[in-house]
Amino acid sequence: MNILVTGGAGYIGSITCVRLIEAGFTPIIFDNFCNSKRTVIDRIERITGKRPLLIEGDIRDRTLLDQTLAQHKIDAVIHFAGLKAVGESVAKPLAYYENNVGGTFTLLQALEAAGVRTLIFSSSATVYGDPASVPILEDFPTGATNPYGRTKLMTEEVLSDIVHANPAWSVTLLRYFNPVGAHPSGLMGEDPQGIPNNLMPLIAQVAVGRREKLTVFGNDYPTPDGTGMRDYIHVMDLADGHIAALRHAIGKPGTHIFNLGTGRGQSVLGMLTAFERACGRPLAHTIAARRPGDVAACWADTAKAERELGWTAKLSLEDMCADTWRWQSSNPNGYAD
Ligand code: NAD
Ligand code: UD1
Repeated sequence: MNILVTGGAGYIGSITCVRLIEAGFTPIIFDNFCNSKRTVIDRIERITGKRPLLIEGDIRDRTLLDQTLAQHKIDAVIHFAGLKAVGESVAKPLAYYENNVGGTFTLLQALEAAGVRTLIFSSSATVYGDPASVPILEDFPTGATNPYGRTKLMTEEVLSDIVHANPAWSVTLLRYFNPVGAHPSGLMGEDPQGIPNNLMPLIAQVAVGRREKLTVFGNDYPTPDGTGMRDYIHVMDLADGHIAALRHAIGKPGTHIFNLGTGRGQSVLGMLTAFERACGRPLAHTIAARRPGDVAACWADTAKAERELGWTAKLSLEDMCADTWRWQSSNPNGYAD
């Protein structure tokens, strides 16, 4: 089966392409490289022995999408392409709505015209806003607190409306919790451009000497050690969640919503300590005020994914830290240009 993978050169998309190839699917990557490097394609080939087809382009380019869909018989789409930095989305909301929502409109119009109606969408736990309780179930109320989150929520709503209008569509909304880790080979991982926004790449950069210390945002949350708790999930498990979702979606119309997480929360200090064990040395940190917009605790109820997809996260916190460290220490500056 041919799977069009928008954003397939990015962190989660590229590792999902590895797993797709290993599972016998043929990914076709569609990416404009606005937040990724071309050398990632070499790494996919090195790991799998197969070079995925690459179409360099923007999902807002209807002509190129139409050409792509005319040239290749696409069975399903995994739609990763999007901008993802919360702070940047506050500063540049139009860019986020245009790329994430507008880009998805163009993609959906092209898919509708081509008769491709199976799509898996990269959503986020951010759509739950500040949850009333944890663990979070898929039917909890939604509500985003920043433009990035709103692009995810709006896209989810548009996709649900499309299914409502045309029941031939199969749409799967995957709400990722906090993806971390790297391919166990150390050849592929997260390569944030500029200053990272998320905890794990920041810790990894302290460990590799690119950054002096970690700033812990708040130690006065109502959690056991006072620091924020999140559901960190290994990117390999997340990639496998997409394979399970794809198998589930094929021939199953409707809107399907799944949390992809481990079902367990880990604190900021817990992550730091686990990473210290992985890299074998203490990592400097300082405590600062809470980051505006942060919630105290957020982790998934994963029973639905387990029941309906037959998928659970298998890798441990130790795996997440060891694999991140292997990737970061052997590629201290990320992928080559
Ligand atoms: P990433 O930035 O590494 O990958 C996104 C890819 O999409 C990049 O290769 C980028 O070049 C490409 N892209 C962006 N806009 C495009 C466009 N208009 N046309 C073509 N390509 C375009 O991000 P990631 O961490 O791999 O995340 C993938 C998806 O998962 C995103 O939609 C993100 O919002 C979502 N998500 C990520 C996280 C996370 O923590 N990483 C959490 C929840 C949801
Ligand atoms: C953030 C985004 C969320 C997005 C997710 C994945 C915000 C408010 N939320 O979530 O929308 O879906 O990333 O991309 O930005 N931390 C520190 N020091 C740091 C960085 C983070 O202590 O330098 C703490 C945070 O306070 C939090 C935890 O680490 O408790 C995880 O932070 P982060 O990796 O940014 O993820 P989220 O806040 O869960």
